[in-house]
Amino acid sequence: MDLFYITKIVLLAHIVLQGAAATNGVLYEYGNATDKLSQKVNFGEVEITNLTVKFPLFGKNYSSFYLCLEGILDFNRGNCFASPVIPRDGSLPIIAPFWGDFSIALSGDIYYRQSNDPRLLANATQDINKYFPGLRFSAQWVFIATWDKVTSILGIVTQVNTLQVVLITDGTLSFVLFNYADIQWSHGAAAGLYNGNASEYYQLNNPRDSVFNLTSSSNINYPGRWAFRVDKLQVEVPTIQQTTTTMSQVIYGNGTPTGNIQGTFATCKIYVYIFALYIVFPLNLI
Ligand SMILES: *[C@@H]1O[C@H](CO)[C@@H](O)[C@H](O)[C@H]1NC(C)=O
Ligand SMILES: *[C@@H]1O[C@H](CO)[C@@H](O)[C@H](O)[C@H]1NC(C)=O
Ligand SMILES: *[C@@H]1O[C@H](CO)[C@@H](O)[C@H](O)[C@H]1NC(C)=O
Ligand SMILES: *[C@@H]1O[C@H](CO)[C@@H](O)[C@H](O)[C@H]1NC(C)=O
Ligand SMILES: *[C@@H]1O[C@H](CO)[C@@H](O)[C@H](O)[C@H]1NC(C)=O
Ligand SMILES: *[C@@H]1O[C@H](CO)[C@@H](O)[C@H](O)[C@H]1NC(C)=O
Repeated sequence: MDLFYITKIVLLAHIVLQGAAATNGVLYEYGNATDKLSQKVNFGEVEITNLTVKFPLFGKNYSSFYLCLEGILDFNRGNCFASPVIPRDGSLPIIAPFWGDFSIALSGDIYYRQSNDPRLLANATQDINKYFPGLRFSAQWVFIATWDKVTSILGIVTQVNTLQVVLITDGTLSFVLFNYADIQWSHGAAAGLYNGNASEYYQLNNPRDSVFNLTSSSNINYPGRWAFRVDKLQVEVPTIQQTTTTMSQVIYGNGTPTGNIQGTFATCKIYVYIFALYIVFPLNLI
């Protein structure tokens, strides 16, 4: 057996494993088949209206909100251009998966949709009941916005971010997921939730701390995913992370480190490569 053949086997194992990782991604399904696509602009907002179910958020019910290209859902018109500071001025809430200087003028797209597709509702129901057990939750409406390979305003096309915010409700209980698939730039960006009361907010990261890694942290032990309950006056986090339910202070980088999980995947891969080598070489030849 020649080296070329061995290389091919190892390469094949690599491709199979990469493929498996991609389909297990942290993102909900998105794309042109189901979603609307934002215009190629530098900044701005899209009004999301005609919700089939009102979205309960921090004690109020909302029938519309704004999707800001700057990485936030805003319940107040015209504030997309504010500097990313949580809490911001104002008495209306924001949901900020990644409030930063996004630009899709050069590269990237923002996909969004409201849906009551039963398959999606079933997935959302399953996820929420896993993260918040005991509520017997049954999703009726889901909103998904996906920033897909989006650059910063600097337009460096080799540095792109892919992330998602998901709103899920049954009309009474409501939840938010932040899904971080790939974060290659983060300067000055803020991730968090603000309930419209300056003393009440929840922040994932310190914008000045470039070390905090959104794709490898989590509050539900699933690297890159964060879950929050948002219908009450204050943000509620999954019981798995009960220690961070307080919201009346800045909470920086409180995700459970999941380095071990990543490490396990890496070890698995090495075993498969070794296995591939054993197929190529009989045991006595290695
Ligand atoms: C969706 O359509 C837009 C515009 O036609 C295109 O730029 C983009 O690449 C498409 N997305 C995917 C995932 O194919
Ligand atoms: C929302 O509903 C109003 C009133 O029924 C309608 O005029 C408007 O076109 C709808 N907007 C969208 C985006 O469907
Ligand atoms: C929001 O809607 C729910 C469900 O219809 C209702 O029970 C609740 O009272 C409403 N809350 C407010 C503040 O209007
Ligand atoms: C539901 O979840 C399954 C398993 O993760 C996934 O394969 C499927 O694409 C999801 N369906 C929708 C509509 O999101
Ligand atoms: C904001 O939260 C504080 C602390 O919970 C509370 O005392 C105050 O009444 C709230 N303000 C408003 C406007 O809801
Ligand atoms: C964040 O963690 C992921 C997964 O462990 C890693 O691939 C990535 O390089 C890290 N990003 C930064 C900026 O350190």
